[in-house]
Amino acid sequence: MNMHKYEKIWLLFGTATLLIFLIVVGISAFYMGNQPPSCAVTLNPEKVHATAPFDDPGLKKIGDNEYQLTVVASAFNYDVGTDDKIVQIPKGATVHFNATTTDVVHGFELAGTNVNMMLEPGYISTYTNTFNKAGKHTLLCNEYCGTGHHLMSATIEVVE
Ligand code: CUA
Repeated sequence: MNMHKYEKIWLLFGTATLLIFLIVVGISAFYMGNQPPSCAVTLNPEKVHATAPFDDPGLKKIGDNEYQLTVVASAFNYDVGTDDKIVQIPKGATVHFNATTTDVVHGFELAGTNVNMMLEPGYISTYTNTFNKAGKHTLLCNEYCGTGHHLMSATIEVVE
């Protein structure tokens, strides 16, 4: 079978492009250690409960209308600092989410908002969101993490 000259050129071009892409991604991920931007800060996954702020999960006021919510995820639970797993946030407040996991990869999705992170062992995931509407948001795990995956949830309640 004879290949047309241009066919060969484009086949070579396509292969070369793919190789360059894989080399660039490979160097970035494995040699330079780049991670998705939401988890740039690291911690020892075995010492989560002894590392601030994760030694004391929950909501803390850090400024005028500004809060930090620290969450520790584990199979199959979100520790948000309350026994009923409900966190109340005043309407209009800006919340800085700080989350990590003690075991496997978990998701961190706050339904009805833009808060959507992946929690990886050894990394701190952060996201900032302002809550301008009153109502309830369910925090749920969107990465399959085992038999109790569907049981992982907590509630963020924005109150007037
Ligand atoms: Cu945690 Cu799915």
